[in-house]
Amino acid sequence: MCGIIGYVGKQDAVPIIVDGLKKLEYRGYDSSGIAVHGKDGISVVKQKGRLSALEEQLAKTPLEGSLGIGHTRWATHGEPSDINSHPHIGSQSKIAIVHNGIIENYKQLKNYLEKRGVVFASQTDSEVIAQLAEYYYSGDAIETVIKMTSRLEGSYALGIMCLDDPGTLIATRKDNPLIVGVSDGGHFIASDVPAILKHTNTVHYLEDNEIAVLKAGSVEFFNADKEPLQKTPETITWNPDSAEKGGYPHFMLKEIMEQPKVLRDTLHSAIHSGGNKDVINDLDIARFNKIVITACGSAYNAGVVGKYVFERLCRFPAIEVELASEFRYKDAVIDEKTLVILISQSGETADTIAALREAKAKGAVTLSIVNVVGSTIAKEADCCLFTAAGPEIAVATTKAFSAQLMILYVLAIWFGAKLGKISAEAEQMLFWELENIPSYVEEILAQVDSIQKYAAEYVSCKNTFFIGRNIDYAIALEGSLKLKEISYVHSEAYAGGELKHGPISLVEENTLIVAISNCKSLYGKIMSNVEQVVSRGARVLLIGNCPDAAEDEKLSHISIPGSIDLFSPSVTVAALQLFSYYVAANKGLDIDKPRNLAKSVTVE
Ligand code: F6R
Repeated sequence: MCGIIGYVGKQDAVPIIVDGLKKLEYRGYDSSGIAVHGKDGISVVKQKGRLSALEEQLAKTPLEGSLGIGHTRWATHGEPSDINSHPHIGSQSKIAIVHNGIIENYKQLKNYLEKRGVVFASQTDSEVIAQLAEYYYSGDAIETVIKMTSRLEGSYALGIMCLDDPGTLIATRKDNPLIVGVSDGGHFIASDVPAILKHTNTVHYLEDNEIAVLKAGSVEFFNADKEPLQKTPETITWNPDSAEKGGYPHFMLKEIMEQPKVLRDTLHSAIHSGGNKDVINDLDIARFNKIVITACGSAYNAGVVGKYVFERLCRFPAIEVELASEFRYKDAVIDEKTLVILISQSGETADTIAALREAKAKGAVTLSIVNVVGSTIAKEADCCLFTAAGPEIAVATTKAFSAQLMILYVLAIWFGAKLGKISAEAEQMLFWELENIPSYVEEILAQVDSIQKYAAEYVSCKNTFFIGRNIDYAIALEGSLKLKEISYVHSEAYAGGELKHGPISLVEENTLIVAISNCKSLYGKIMSNVEQVVSRGARVLLIGNCPDAAEDEKLSHISIPGSIDLFSPSVTVAALQLFSYYVAANKGLDIDKPRNLAKSVTVE
């Protein structure tokens, strides 16, 4: 939430920062701003609204300089407005900052400073950082940052510029991501890799309480005692093109279409990369008496699919799936005999990080499934398996979700084999079917025209229920979340058998039921549900392996290929994603940046 970028070098900072903000807009998009240190000191341009509003403002009030910081905001404290946008500058115009995170004790600090004559301009928690830094400013920027941050409670990633130091950009962080990019053309700070990928793939991951001091010709790191640190840079393997739309109207559609490759890459890296295998070989699964999968949002939905798969393939006695936001506060009954699996695309979701720390504090072994190398969850978990989804820019996750499912399947097969619950033959057959999933997904993506047609047909439906049984229920959860988050259509997911226990009272003319049916043994049951809702006026889109659906005129149908129902969520989800995408497209919505949402939820 909130995106930060900073640049110091020989080039004009503004185009670099604006371009970086475009790549970070998925982290927040209610306002944005830039501060540049130029020949007239520090100048700020900031604007409520999308980045295009800032660009218009910059055209009227150009900024010049080769040192600057930029920010795209997702409001937490203070409404989206010009004045609440970042960068914030102290009342003496000596220090400008951009901030991602939340300062929990900002009211106390604000009172403290106001009593000493400091006048605040905004309602944000972030302004307190600029004012406090200015209040403590001693002429030594690093010491000022150390003193200022020692008073902050909460989380922050910060980019800081001082009026007295026209060639220096300072960065620090606590519980929020920040990277430092190095290149011959200059140095960068950013919340995330895509913002700077076009300039460099050499980055340093800043750790909590470390301070980076960037100049055009050098980058230095210090700890909170101002002692110099030696850090080794890492090389990002992501292709810079992956952070561009590549001719698609939206990142979401591009990312949906990339899934066959992502699935192949993820399967390949899971099976063949020594690192991943070592992780599993070192994990003595037989020593655990409980597995808890915990995550948020779509990653949680992947966990629900995982629970069904683990139960079926490992016959493990106790497998729980918990929302990370609940798990962190429930005083979970876990110990060193529990394996806690954390799933996160960003690796920076605040609730999932808290769940991870809670699990570790209770002695559990933690295994994370993460897309972003170098992220907090990847680093802090005892072991980590990476999804090979590449950068995901659309706020609504698609390809990262699919990659998470792939890793969960692989894990379940490995665990099942290790526990002696599946034979070597079955293991081979299951892996063979995993290899087929990308081509099944290709078959679905090839049906884009008919899925688009269904979306146009059902766009007027105001209420939607996604129903399924067993593993189909698990993927119904994701279909429902996708539809509501990008198209703003009210939608719920229910296990088919639950309809009669309440939700059916809401079914009326023009209610849309998306019925998912891949479990052959439960086909008859789901079709009874379909009969019940059709007789109450509902319209039905049936998705799955449904032998006689084509003959039924009352139903629209998307056929799902594949021979193992357990893996069908990976194929079904591609149809569900395309359906949601086209419903939103029919409504003319801003699909990559749905209202009120941000990717990478780094606050509670
Ligand atoms: C939905 C979506 C969110 C994320 C959730 C967790 O499309 O993207 O629900 O899945 O915020 O994010 P990560 O996976 O980064 O922890």
